[in-house]
Amino acid sequence: PVLIVFLCVAAYLLGSVLFALPVSRLWGLPDPRAQGSGNPGATNVYRTGGWPPALVTLALDAAKGWLPVWLAHNAGLSAIIQAMVALCAVTGHMIPAYYRFKGGKGVATALGAGVALAPVTTFAMATLWLLALWRWKISALASVLAIISGPIISAFIEPDKLPVFGLLAILIVVRHRNNLIRLAQGRETGL
Ligand code: G3P
Repeated sequence: PVLIVFLCVAAYLLGSVLFALPVSRLWGLPDPRAQGSGNPGATNVYRTGGWPPALVTLALDAAKGWLPVWLAHNAGLSAIIQAMVALCAVTGHMIPAYYRFKGGKGVATALGAGVALAPVTTFAMATLWLLALWRWKISALASVLAIISGPIISAFIEPDKLPVFGLLAILIVVRHRNNLIRLAQGRETGL
């Protein structure tokens, strides 16, 4: 139990590091919270600085989801505990301890956690994300479609992971509510 609490708290605190902010600072870019969509994530760093800092942000935000779940897995903790650790990391990104609980949308962090939890489902979701982004050039639309596909895909190939993908889908769709409203109104600007 001590290890479980430690991993959950560590996942939350690591998840709370919004890598869009230090990466933007290092690149000499403006604070993404004051630009574009105002979201501290890779998509908005792409808007302010292009692909290189966006990909670094994506990789680091994904790594902070992957690492604690990988540690839980290697410590021999159960699938349910690994799922809890994943949710703690994503929650950290969404309501971070260090930024007055104002965080991001959790897509990259869920991607990293998903790779450690259920790589086949996550690979299929990431492929869908890329195809949707290529087709429509709207990151939020690609993210919502990919995250909704998670519980559906896992039902077929990794059914024991369906609950965690279901919870991630709910959390991430709720965080995209303003994007969804803009999409419905045809006002979402995309990439
Ligand atoms: O991962 C976030 C993405 O889905 C949407 O970001 O900046 O367009 O709100 P943004």
